[in-house]
Amino acid sequence: MSLTPRRQRRRTAGAGLALLSLLALAPAARADDDHRPAAVPPLPAYAQECGSCHVAYPPGLLPAASWQRLMAGLPRHFGTDASLDPAAAQAIGAWLAQHAGSARKVQREPAAPPEDRISRSAWFQREHREVSASTWALPAVKSAANCGACHTRADQGDFSERHLRLPR
Ligand code: HEC
Ligand code: HEC
Repeated sequence: MSLTPRRQRRRTAGAGLALLSLLALAPAARADDDHRPAAVPPLPAYAQECGSCHVAYPPGLLPAASWQRLMAGLPRHFGTDASLDPAAAQAIGAWLAQHAGSARKVQREPAAPPEDRISRSAWFQREHREVSASTWALPAVKSAANCGACHTRADQGDFSERHLRLPR
């Protein structure tokens, strides 16, 4: 897919800024790389329990309040029952709380997204405005929540353009 020149310019400037902040404060800069594999220690239980029906969404892409509500509502999870035993729920909830909202995009937004969906965040809508309605409707996509349909390394938390492939 091709990018508009304006967007490319913004990205180039962004890369320069990112490099500067990397030099200035290396640990903080990592949280800025929203779309790279998160510098978050993986929790195998999370990948296993929350990655079976869809990709295990990166914790940094939702604020803590959203994860908390989602974890409290697992028996009625988007029309399915995603209940966990209390020990697993506790461990996953704590890990999510600890790593929530680390993406800069998320920190810039004042409120939790509707339905606590990553796909309904304002930043998500902005980043995906070039995706056409017909692409969203493709059988291979069906839902904006189906990140892996386009982001071939979504399961590794990598949303970089390099690993983006739009289905036809
Ligand atoms: C039994 C299947 C199932 C399991 C297990 C499951 N989910 Fe889901 N989840 C769903 C469905 C179905 C949706 C709605 C997908 C759609 O709209 O296309 C969803 C959507 C979501 C969304 C919103 C995606 C978006 O941005 O639109 C989040 C966040 C989420 N799940 C988190 C979790 C977490 C955390 C766990 C583990 C505790 C979990 N899920 C386990 C079925 C599941
Ligand atoms: C229909 C295909 C499609 C689906 C499904 C999709 N995306 Fe994307 N995504 C794109 C496109 C196209 C871009 C824009 C790339 C660009 O212009 O930089 C993008 C950009 C992004 C970016 C910004 C990447 C960057 O380089 O800054 C993030 C983060 C992202 N998507 C996360 C997600 C998440 C999380 C999901 C699932 C909840 C998802 N996407 C679902 C196609 C998709």
